[in-house]
Amino acid sequence: MQNTSEQRLLVLGIETSCDETAAAVVVRDGEAEGRILSNVVRSQLAEHSPYGGVVPEIAARAHVECLDTLVAAALAEAGVTLADLSGIAATAGPGLNGGLVVGLVTGKTLALAAGKPFLAINHLEAHALTVGLTDGLAPPYLVLLVSGGHTQTLLVEDVGRYRRIGTTVDDAIGEAFDKTAKLLGLGYPGGPEVERAARAGDARRFPLPRPMVGRAEPHFSLAGLKTALRQRAEAAAPLSDQDIADLSAAFEAAVCDIIVDRVGRAMDLSAGSLGEGARVLTIAGGVAANKSIARALAGLADARGFHLAVPPAALCTDNGAMIAWAGAERLARGLTDELDVAAKPRWPLDPGAPAAIGAGVKA
Ligand code: KG4
Ligand code: ZN
Repeated sequence: MQNTSEQRLLVLGIETSCDETAAAVVVRDGEAEGRILSNVVRSQLAEHSPYGGVVPEIAARAHVECLDTLVAAALAEAGVTLADLSGIAATAGPGLNGGLVVGLVTGKTLALAAGKPFLAINHLEAHALTVGLTDGLAPPYLVLLVSGGHTQTLLVEDVGRYRRIGTTVDDAIGEAFDKTAKLLGLGYPGGPEVERAARAGDARRFPLPRPMVGRAEPHFSLAGLKTALRQRAEAAAPLSDQDIADLSAAFEAAVCDIIVDRVGRAMDLSAGSLGEGARVLTIAGGVAANKSIARALAGLADARGFHLAVPPAALCTDNGAMIAWAGAERLARGLTDELDVAAKPRWPLDPGAPAAIGAGVKA
């Protein structure tokens, strides 16, 4: 396929890898100028919150029920038809298989019916490229991806060229927030609840460990922190509101310290690839909404001479615009996919990355 990098590209993006059904239309004008024409998201929070986590079967069914309406809404809001599109992009992985199949089959069907190129998008790549859409930033840059399912530092060398620096050897950070909230009797999703409770808390009352901090390898570990928190909570039970606030504050402070240390290590390890000019750190994933973490990262970026680019919260959490944008970036480079591409529940961005020590390493 010819290189279309100078053309105006109009791409529909579909996202169904977890508990958000999303569709969006994005335009890419010439060299990496991006604009969102529509960005429709339907969260399945209400369906999953009674279970305190995402239930795969419920997620897949909920995607089926609303995806066609969302795609129609995204096209209508953008004021375009299928015929106007340059390409159709859908998340192919990583994520929950049932949901991925729903989005992928929908995207392929639309591409076939409209005779448009199809783009099978890696969800992690879409998070990593968002800063190009929101801030017009081009690689190389460093990304901290922190969500309910992922915790990793990534070096984006170019579109399609990623080097994973660090990952978690056990829980994802968002997952740790969710488990902490459950333990403390707070609601789901746990991140915003823990953050709210922490505001009234004293982080010094309950000392908690900072696993991996200071270690040479750049990985994350949350399991020991979670266990220590549970022990402190059990010892203090029954918990008063102040106990919950203090435990939340202690947990959040420990996570901030872990993130600052681990991202600092990723900065050391990617220094050679980032060059001497303006170095950029960006953040993606739902945990990016946490104000204390954002403040801690701003301090780190300042100290290390990095520019911290934080996309708006709606573009840090799962959305269709990031899928459409990643699709446009790939389409501009002729990186289209065949219609027989399969869903990939596990799809590391950097298959060559050495496995982190420990069990249960996340993609
Ligand atoms: O990216 P996201 O919306 O979905 C995926 O996991 O893919 O991230 C959701 C995660 C949840 O674990 C949630 O508890 C966490 O992000 N989160 C937060 C905050 N808001 C959402 N964690 C800490 N502080 C927050 N304010
Ligand atoms: Zn995500």
